[in-house]
Amino acid sequence: MSDTVEDVDLPFDEETTVQDKLEVMRRRLDVLQNENEQMRDKLLDANAENNKYQQKLERLAHENEKLKQAPLFVATVQEVTEDGVIIKQHGNNQEAVTTVHDELKTELQPKDRVAVNNSLSIVKILDAETDVRARVMQVEQSPDVTYGDIGGLEEQLRDVRETVELPMRRPELFETVGITPPSGVLLHGPPGTGKTMMAKAVANQTDATFIKMAGSELVHKFIGEGAKLVRDLFTVAKENEPSVIFIDEIDAIASKRTESKTSGDAEVQRTMMQLLSEMDGFESRGEIRIMAATNRFDMLDRAILRPGRFDRLIEVPKPNVEGRRAIFEIHTREMSLADEFDFEVLAEQTEGASGAEIAAICTEAGMFAIRDERDAITLEDVEQAIEKVLAEEDDDEISKTFA
Ligand SMILES: Nc1ncnc2c1ncn2[C@@H]1O[C@H](COP(=O)(O)OP(=O)(O)OP(=O)(O)O)[C@@H](O)[C@H]1O
Ligand SMILES: [Mg+2]
Repeated sequence: MSDTVEDVDLPFDEETTVQDKLEVMRRRLDVLQNENEQMRDKLLDANAENNKYQQKLERLAHENEKLKQAPLFVATVQEVTEDGVIIKQHGNNQEAVTTVHDELKTELQPKDRVAVNNSLSIVKILDAETDVRARVMQVEQSPDVTYGDIGGLEEQLRDVRETVELPMRRPELFETVGITPPSGVLLHGPPGTGKTMMAKAVANQTDATFIKMAGSELVHKFIGEGAKLVRDLFTVAKENEPSVIFIDEIDAIASKRTESKTSGDAEVQRTMMQLLSEMDGFESRGEIRIMAATNRFDMLDRAILRPGRFDRLIEVPKPNVEGRRAIFEIHTREMSLADEFDFEVLAEQTEGASGAEIAAICTEAGMFAIRDERDAITLEDVEQAIEKVLAEEDDDEISKTFA
Protein backbone atom coordinates (compact mmCIF):
# COMPACT_ATOMS: atom_id res chain seq x y z
CA MET A 1 0.00 0.00 0.00
CA SER A 2 1.28 3.47 -0.87
CA ASP A 3 1.99 5.94 1.84
CA THR A 4 0.11 8.94 0.61
CA VAL A 5 -2.48 9.74 -1.96
CA GLU A 6 0.11 11.51 -4.08
CA ASP A 7 1.93 8.20 -4.55
CA VAL A 8 -1.01 6.86 -6.50
CA ASP A 9 -0.45 8.28 -9.97
CA LEU A 10 -3.22 9.75 -11.99
CA PRO A 11 -2.12 8.78 -15.51
CA PHE A 12 -5.10 10.41 -17.15
CA ASP A 13 -4.93 11.31 -20.80
CA GLU A 14 -7.10 10.96 -23.94
CA GLU A 15 -6.61 7.19 -23.99
CA THR A 16 -7.41 6.41 -20.36
CA THR A 17 -10.49 4.34 -20.17
CA VAL A 18 -13.19 4.93 -17.64
CA GLN A 19 -12.29 1.54 -16.16
CA ASP A 20 -8.71 2.62 -15.57
CA LYS A 21 -9.78 5.91 -14.08
CA LEU A 22 -12.13 4.14 -11.75
CA GLU A 23 -9.40 1.74 -10.67
CA VAL A 24 -7.06 4.60 -9.88
CA MET A 25 -9.71 6.47 -7.94
CA ARG A 26 -10.46 3.35 -5.96
CA ARG A 27 -6.86 2.94 -5.00
CA ARG A 28 -6.74 6.55 -3.88
CA LEU A 29 -9.81 5.97 -1.78
CA ASP A 30 -8.18 2.95 -0.10
CA VAL A 31 -5.15 4.97 0.80
CA LEU A 32 -7.28 7.75 2.20
CA GLN A 33 -9.34 5.38 4.28
CA ASN A 34 -6.25 3.83 5.68
CA GLU A 35 -4.82 7.22 6.57
CA ASN A 36 -8.07 8.19 8.16
CA GLU A 37 -7.96 5.18 10.42
CA GLN A 38 -4.45 5.91 11.49
CA MET A 39 -5.33 9.48 12.29
CA ARG A 40 -8.28 8.34 14.34
CA ASP A 41 -6.05 6.06 16.39
CA LYS A 42 -3.68 8.90 16.99
CA LEU A 43 -6.53 11.14 18.03
CA LEU A 44 -7.73 8.57 20.53
CA ASP A 45 -4.24 8.24 21.99
CA ALA A 46 -3.91 11.98 22.21
CA ASN A 47 -7.29 12.24 23.90
CA ALA A 48 -6.34 9.66 26.48
CA GLU A 49 -3.09 11.47 27.13
CA ASN A 50 -4.93 14.73 27.38
CA ASN A 51 -7.34 13.30 29.93
CA LYS A 52 -4.48 12.11 32.05
CA TYR A 53 -2.90 15.55 32.06
CA GLN A 54 -6.23 17.18 32.70
CA GLN A 55 -6.62 15.09 35.82
CA LYS A 56 -3.15 15.94 36.97
CA LEU A 57 -3.81 19.58 36.34
CA GLU A 58 -6.95 19.45 38.41
CA ARG A 59 -5.15 17.73 41.23
CA LEU A 60 -2.37 20.28 41.22
CA ALA A 61 -4.79 23.18 40.98
CA HIS A 62 -6.62 21.77 43.97
CA GLU A 63 -3.40 21.45 45.95
CA ASN A 64 -2.47 24.97 44.99
CA GLU A 65 -5.82 26.27 46.22
CA LYS A 66 -5.32 24.50 49.49
CA LEU A 67 -1.89 26.04 49.96
CA LYS A 68 -3.26 29.50 49.27
CA GLN A 69 -5.86 29.30 51.99
CA ALA A 70 -5.47 31.87 54.70
CA PRO A 71 -3.62 30.65 57.79
CA LEU A 72 -5.40 30.03 61.05
CA PHE A 73 -4.33 31.51 64.37
CA VAL A 74 -4.55 30.01 67.80
CA ALA A 75 -6.47 31.70 70.60
CA THR A 76 -7.81 30.73 74.00
CA VAL A 77 -11.40 31.26 75.03
CA GLN A 78 -11.66 33.58 78.04
CA GLU A 79 -15.38 33.81 78.45
CA VAL A 80 -18.52 32.83 76.62
CA THR A 81 -21.12 35.60 76.94
CA GLU A 82 -24.51 36.44 75.47
CA ASP A 83 -22.98 38.85 73.00
CA GLY A 84 -20.16 36.71 71.84
CA VAL A 85 -17.02 34.99 72.87
CA ILE A 86 -14.03 36.70 74.40
CA ILE A 87 -10.81 35.24 73.14
CA LYS A 88 -7.16 35.93 73.74
CA GLN A 89 -4.86 35.50 70.78
CA HIS A 90 -1.65 33.60 71.22
CA GLY A 91 1.49 35.36 70.10
CA ASN A 92 0.34 38.94 70.72
CA ASN A 93 -1.89 38.27 73.75
CA GLN A 94 -4.60 40.60 72.51
CA GLU A 95 -8.13 40.09 73.66
CA ALA A 96 -11.04 40.35 71.31
CA VAL A 97 -14.75 39.70 71.21
CA THR A 98 -15.79 37.50 68.41
CA THR A 99 -18.91 35.82 67.18
CA VAL A 100 -19.42 32.16 66.64
CA HIS A 101 -22.27 30.14 65.23
CA ASP A 102 -24.62 28.66 67.83
CA GLU A 103 -23.72 25.06 67.25
CA LEU A 104 -20.09 25.66 68.12
CA LYS A 105 -20.94 28.08 70.91
CA THR A 106 -22.72 25.47 72.98
CA GLU A 107 -19.56 23.39 72.96
CA LEU A 108 -17.22 26.23 73.90
CA GLN A 109 -15.84 26.57 77.40
CA PRO A 110 -13.41 28.97 78.98
CA LYS A 111 -9.76 27.87 78.48
CA ASP A 112 -10.60 25.97 75.28
CA ARG A 113 -8.06 26.45 72.55
CA VAL A 114 -9.59 27.51 69.27
CA ALA A 115 -8.42 28.27 65.75
CA VAL A 116 -9.48 31.66 64.42
CA ASN A 117 -9.15 33.09 60.93
CA ASN A 118 -7.89 36.50 59.83
CA SER A 119 -11.08 38.24 60.90
CA LEU A 120 -10.93 36.44 64.27
CA SER A 121 -13.97 34.26 63.68
CA ILE A 122 -13.69 30.95 65.44
CA VAL A 123 -13.25 28.20 62.88
CA LYS A 124 -12.90 25.21 65.14
CA ILE A 125 -12.08 23.98 68.59
CA LEU A 126 -8.59 22.56 68.97
CA ASP A 127 -7.37 19.60 70.94
CA ALA A 128 -5.74 20.26 74.26
CA GLU A 129 -2.23 21.66 74.03
CA THR A 130 -0.58 18.50 75.21
CA ASP A 131 -2.13 16.66 72.28
CA VAL A 132 -0.67 19.08 69.79
CA ARG A 133 2.69 18.74 71.45
CA ALA A 134 2.44 15.01 71.38
CA ARG A 135 1.56 15.09 67.72
CA VAL A 136 4.31 17.45 66.65
CA MET A 137 6.90 16.00 68.93
CA GLN A 138 7.46 12.30 69.02
CA VAL A 139 9.41 11.03 71.94
CA GLU A 140 10.77 7.52 71.54
CA GLN A 141 12.84 5.92 74.24
CA SER A 142 14.89 4.18 71.61
CA PRO A 143 13.80 3.71 67.98
CA ASP A 144 14.13 0.24 66.48
CA VAL A 145 16.19 1.10 63.39
CA THR A 146 19.77 -0.18 63.56
CA TYR A 147 22.84 0.52 61.46
CA GLY A 148 22.37 -2.91 59.90
CA ASP A 149 19.07 -1.76 58.40
CA ILE A 150 20.78 0.89 56.35
CA GLY A 151 22.26 -0.03 53.00
CA GLY A 152 25.23 1.81 51.54
CA LEU A 153 26.06 5.17 53.13
CA GLU A 154 29.08 3.76 55.01
CA GLU A 155 30.95 7.03 54.84
CA GLN A 156 27.94 9.07 55.92
CA LEU A 157 27.27 6.73 58.80
CA ARG A 158 30.85 7.02 59.97
CA ASP A 159 30.52 10.80 59.90
CA VAL A 160 27.27 10.76 61.83
CA ARG A 161 28.62 8.35 64.42
CA GLU A 162 31.72 10.42 64.93
CA THR A 163 29.84 13.65 65.38
CA VAL A 164 26.75 12.50 67.24
CA GLU A 165 27.41 9.18 68.87
CA LEU A 166 31.01 9.49 69.95
CA PRO A 167 30.60 12.68 72.01
CA MET A 168 27.78 10.99 73.90
CA ARG A 169 29.56 7.73 74.52
CA ARG A 170 33.06 9.00 75.11
CA PRO A 171 32.95 12.69 76.03
CA GLU A 172 36.38 12.36 77.66
CA LEU A 173 38.01 11.91 74.23
CA PHE A 174 36.94 15.37 73.26
CA GLU A 175 37.85 16.85 76.62
CA THR A 176 41.35 15.42 76.48
CA VAL A 177 42.05 16.75 73.03
CA GLY A 178 40.35 19.97 73.98
CA ILE A 179 37.87 20.36 71.16
CA THR A 180 34.17 20.92 71.25
CA PRO A 181 32.28 18.47 69.06
CA PRO A 182 30.12 20.05 66.36
CA SER A 183 26.81 21.12 67.87
CA GLY A 184 24.46 20.30 65.09
CA VAL A 185 24.58 17.83 62.26
CA LEU A 186 22.56 18.45 59.15
CA LEU A 187 21.77 15.58 56.81
CA HIS A 188 20.80 16.69 53.36
CA GLY A 189 20.01 14.91 50.12
CA PRO A 190 17.18 13.77 47.85
CA PRO A 191 13.95 12.32 49.29
CA GLY A 192 13.91 8.73 50.46
CA THR A 193 17.64 8.22 50.80
CA GLY A 194 17.70 7.22 54.45
CA LYS A 195 18.21 10.49 56.33
CA THR A 196 15.47 9.89 58.85
CA MET A 197 16.62 6.29 59.22
CA MET A 198 20.17 7.37 60.02
CA ALA A 199 19.00 9.68 62.75
CA LYS A 200 16.92 6.91 64.28
CA ALA A 201 19.77 4.42 64.10
CA VAL A 202 22.06 6.80 65.97
CA ALA A 203 19.51 7.26 68.71
CA ASN A 204 19.09 3.51 68.94
CA GLN A 205 22.81 2.90 69.20
CA THR A 206 23.27 5.42 71.97
CA ASP A 207 20.24 4.43 74.01
CA ALA A 208 19.35 8.07 73.91
CA THR A 209 15.81 9.35 73.95
CA PHE A 210 14.94 10.29 70.44
CA ILE A 211 12.83 13.41 70.13
CA LYS A 212 11.61 14.00 66.66
CA MET A 213 9.91 17.12 65.46
CA ALA A 214 8.72 17.61 61.91
CA GLY A 215 9.33 21.13 60.64
CA SER A 216 6.37 20.97 58.31
CA GLU A 217 3.99 20.03 61.11
CA LEU A 218 5.27 22.96 63.09
CA VAL A 219 4.44 25.63 60.59
CA HIS A 220 1.55 24.25 58.61
CA LYS A 221 -0.70 23.40 61.47
CA PHE A 222 -1.15 26.47 63.60
CA ILE A 223 0.25 29.90 63.72
CA GLY A 224 1.42 31.34 67.00
CA GLU A 225 2.74 28.08 68.38
CA GLY A 226 5.99 27.50 66.53
CA ALA A 227 8.39 29.39 68.75
CA LYS A 228 6.85 27.93 71.87
CA LEU A 229 7.06 24.40 70.53
CA VAL A 230 10.74 24.88 69.75
CA ARG A 231 11.28 26.03 73.33
CA ASP A 232 9.37 23.00 74.59
CA LEU A 233 11.44 20.77 72.37
CA PHE A 234 14.64 21.75 74.11
CA THR A 235 13.01 21.52 77.52
CA VAL A 236 11.84 17.99 76.83
CA ALA A 237 15.33 17.12 75.56
CA LYS A 238 16.89 18.39 78.77
CA GLU A 239 14.39 16.48 80.89
CA ASN A 240 15.26 13.28 79.03
CA GLU A 241 19.04 13.43 78.80
CA PRO A 242 20.81 11.76 77.09
CA SER A 243 18.74 12.64 74.08
CA VAL A 244 18.91 13.30 70.40
CA ILE A 245 16.78 16.10 69.05
CA PHE A 246 15.92 15.44 65.46
CA ILE A 247 14.25 18.13 63.40
CA ASP A 248 13.05 16.54 60.21
CA GLU A 249 12.26 18.71 57.19
CA ILE A 250 13.99 21.64 58.77
CA ASP A 251 13.60 23.65 55.56
CA ALA A 252 10.01 24.31 56.63
CA ILE A 253 11.17 26.50 59.51
CA ALA A 254 14.56 27.60 58.22
CA SER A 255 14.14 28.58 54.63
CA LYS A 256 15.48 31.76 53.13
CA ARG A 257 13.53 34.89 53.85
CA THR A 258 11.11 35.49 51.05
CA GLU A 259 9.84 38.79 49.74
CA SER A 260 6.27 38.27 50.77
CA LYS A 261 5.37 39.71 54.15
CA THR A 262 2.44 37.56 55.12
CA SER A 263 1.82 36.76 58.75
CA GLY A 264 2.66 33.13 58.03
CA ASP A 265 6.18 34.14 57.02
CA ALA A 266 6.68 36.23 60.11
CA GLU A 267 5.66 33.26 62.17
CA VAL A 268 8.15 31.00 60.41
CA GLN A 269 10.82 33.62 61.06
CA ARG A 270 9.96 33.71 64.74
CA THR A 271 10.14 29.95 64.93
CA MET A 272 13.54 29.93 63.29
CA MET A 273 14.86 32.69 65.53
CA GLN A 274 13.80 30.69 68.53
CA LEU A 275 15.63 27.66 67.18
CA LEU A 276 18.78 29.68 66.56
CA SER A 277 18.74 31.13 70.02
CA GLU A 278 18.15 27.73 71.63
CA MET A 279 21.10 26.37 69.72
CA ASP A 280 23.32 29.30 70.59
CA GLY A 281 22.59 29.01 74.27
CA PHE A 282 23.30 25.37 74.23
CA GLU A 283 26.06 23.57 76.06
CA SER A 284 27.22 21.41 73.20
CA ARG A 285 29.28 19.08 75.33
CA GLY A 286 26.16 18.06 77.17
CA GLU A 287 24.14 14.99 76.71
CA ILE A 288 21.94 16.45 74.01
CA ARG A 289 22.78 16.16 70.35
CA ILE A 290 20.94 17.96 67.61
CA MET A 291 20.35 16.56 64.18
CA ALA A 292 18.28 17.84 61.35
CA ALA A 293 17.43 16.68 57.86
CA THR A 294 16.28 18.33 54.69
CA ASN A 295 15.81 17.48 51.06
CA ARG A 296 15.78 21.18 50.14
CA PHE A 297 19.29 22.24 51.10
CA ASP A 298 19.22 25.01 48.50
CA MET A 299 16.36 26.71 50.33
CA LEU A 300 17.97 26.92 53.74
CA ASP A 301 18.70 30.23 55.38
CA ARG A 302 22.48 30.38 55.72
CA ALA A 303 22.13 31.67 59.28
CA ILE A 304 21.28 28.17 60.38
CA LEU A 305 24.60 26.87 59.03
CA ARG A 306 26.84 29.23 60.96
CA PRO A 307 29.47 27.84 63.34
CA GLY A 308 27.93 26.67 66.58
CA ARG A 309 24.70 25.76 64.85
CA PHE A 310 24.34 23.15 62.14
CA ASP A 311 28.00 23.32 61.34
CA ARG A 312 28.48 19.76 60.23
CA LEU A 313 26.92 19.01 56.88
CA ILE A 314 26.55 15.45 55.69
CA GLU A 315 25.33 14.81 52.21
CA VAL A 316 23.19 11.70 51.80
CA PRO A 317 23.07 10.94 48.06
CA LYS A 318 20.99 8.43 46.15
CA PRO A 319 22.56 4.97 46.41
CA ASN A 320 25.09 3.81 43.83
CA VAL A 321 24.96 0.32 42.44
CA GLU A 322 26.53 -1.30 45.52
CA GLY A 323 24.25 0.69 47.77
CA ARG A 324 21.20 -0.43 45.84
CA ARG A 325 22.35 -4.01 46.05
CA ALA A 326 22.72 -3.74 49.80
CA ILE A 327 19.30 -2.11 50.16
CA PHE A 328 17.69 -4.89 48.10
CA GLU A 329 19.31 -7.45 50.36
CA ILE A 330 18.10 -5.68 53.48
CA HIS A 331 14.53 -5.31 52.34
CA THR A 332 14.20 -8.91 51.13
CA ARG A 333 15.80 -10.29 54.28
CA GLU A 334 12.47 -11.17 55.85
CA MET A 335 10.74 -12.19 52.64
CA SER A 336 10.25 -15.70 51.29
CA LEU A 337 12.10 -15.85 48.01
CA ALA A 338 11.32 -18.51 45.47
CA ASP A 339 14.49 -18.12 43.42
CA GLU A 340 18.14 -17.60 44.04
CA PHE A 341 18.15 -13.85 43.56
CA ASP A 342 20.96 -12.11 41.77
CA PHE A 343 20.87 -8.81 43.62
CA GLU A 344 23.65 -7.49 41.44
CA VAL A 345 21.37 -7.57 38.40
CA LEU A 346 18.48 -5.97 40.27
CA ALA A 347 20.79 -3.21 41.43
CA GLU A 348 21.85 -2.59 37.86
CA GLN A 349 18.24 -2.43 36.71
CA THR A 350 17.37 0.27 39.22
CA GLU A 351 19.75 3.05 38.28
CA GLY A 352 18.62 6.31 39.86
CA ALA A 353 16.23 4.70 42.36
CA SER A 354 16.28 5.90 45.97
CA GLY A 355 16.29 3.61 49.00
CA ALA A 356 12.61 4.34 49.54
CA GLU A 357 11.87 3.30 45.98
CA ILE A 358 13.74 0.04 46.42
CA ALA A 359 11.76 -0.61 49.59
CA ALA A 360 8.59 0.10 47.61
CA ILE A 361 9.72 -2.31 44.87
CA CYS A 362 10.17 -5.11 47.40
CA THR A 363 6.74 -4.53 48.91
CA GLU A 364 5.19 -4.33 45.46
CA ALA A 365 6.85 -7.64 44.47
CA GLY A 366 5.28 -9.19 47.56
CA MET A 367 1.91 -7.85 46.46
CA PHE A 368 2.27 -9.54 43.08
CA ALA A 369 2.92 -12.85 44.82
CA ILE A 370 -0.06 -12.44 47.13
CA ARG A 371 -2.31 -11.55 44.23
CA ASP A 372 -1.31 -14.81 42.54
CA GLU A 373 -1.79 -16.68 45.82
CA ARG A 374 1.83 -17.78 45.90
CA ASP A 375 3.74 -17.87 49.16
CA ALA A 376 7.12 -16.85 47.80
CA ILE A 377 8.39 -14.04 45.65
CA THR A 378 9.91 -14.78 42.26
CA LEU A 379 12.46 -12.81 40.34
CA GLU A 380 9.73 -11.98 37.86
CA ASP A 381 7.66 -10.37 40.64
CA VAL A 382 10.57 -8.13 41.46
CA GLU A 383 11.18 -7.23 37.84
CA GLN A 384 7.52 -6.40 37.34
CA ALA A 385 7.61 -4.31 40.51
CA ILE A 386 10.69 -2.43 39.31
CA GLU A 387 8.87 -1.54 36.15
CA LYS A 388 5.81 -0.39 38.04
CA VAL A 389 7.52 1.65 40.75
CA LEU A 390 10.03 3.31 38.47
CA ALA A 391 7.35 4.11 35.88
CA GLU A 392 5.37 5.91 38.56
CA GLU A 393 8.41 7.96 39.29
CA ASP A 394 8.76 8.91 35.62
CA ASP A 395 5.15 9.99 35.69
CA ASP A 396 5.86 12.30 38.57
CA GLU A 397 8.75 13.83 36.65
CA ILE A 398 6.40 14.57 33.78
CA SER A 399 3.83 16.16 36.01
CA LYS A 400 6.51 18.36 37.54
CA THR A 401 7.57 19.66 34.14
CA PHE A 402 3.97 20.04 33.20
CA ALA A 403 3.10 22.09 36.26
N1 LIG B 1 19.95 3.48 52.62
C1 LIG B 1 18.83 2.80 52.87
N2 LIG B 1 18.87 1.51 53.30
C2 LIG B 1 17.72 0.82 53.55
N3 LIG B 1 16.49 1.34 53.39
C3 LIG B 1 16.38 2.61 52.97
C4 LIG B 1 17.55 3.41 52.69
N4 LIG B 1 17.13 4.62 52.30
C5 LIG B 1 15.78 4.59 52.33
N5 LIG B 1 15.32 3.40 52.73
C6 LIG B 1 13.90 3.01 52.85
O1 LIG B 1 13.13 4.15 52.55
C7 LIG B 1 12.33 4.56 53.65
C8 LIG B 1 12.38 6.06 53.78
O2 LIG B 1 13.67 6.47 54.18
P1 LIG B 1 13.88 7.78 55.03
O3 LIG B 1 12.61 8.15 55.69
O4 LIG B 1 15.07 7.61 55.90
O5 LIG B 1 14.19 8.81 53.87
P2 LIG B 1 14.61 10.35 54.00
O6 LIG B 1 15.96 10.48 53.42
O7 LIG B 1 14.40 10.82 55.38
O8 LIG B 1 13.58 11.00 52.99
P3 LIG B 1 12.87 12.46 53.04
O9 LIG B 1 13.89 13.45 52.56
O10 LIG B 1 11.78 12.30 52.05
O11 LIG B 1 12.42 12.68 54.44
C9 LIG B 1 12.93 3.85 54.85
O12 LIG B 1 11.93 3.56 55.80
C10 LIG B 1 13.52 2.59 54.25
O13 LIG B 1 12.54 1.59 54.13
MG1 LIG C 1 12.95 12.06 56.21
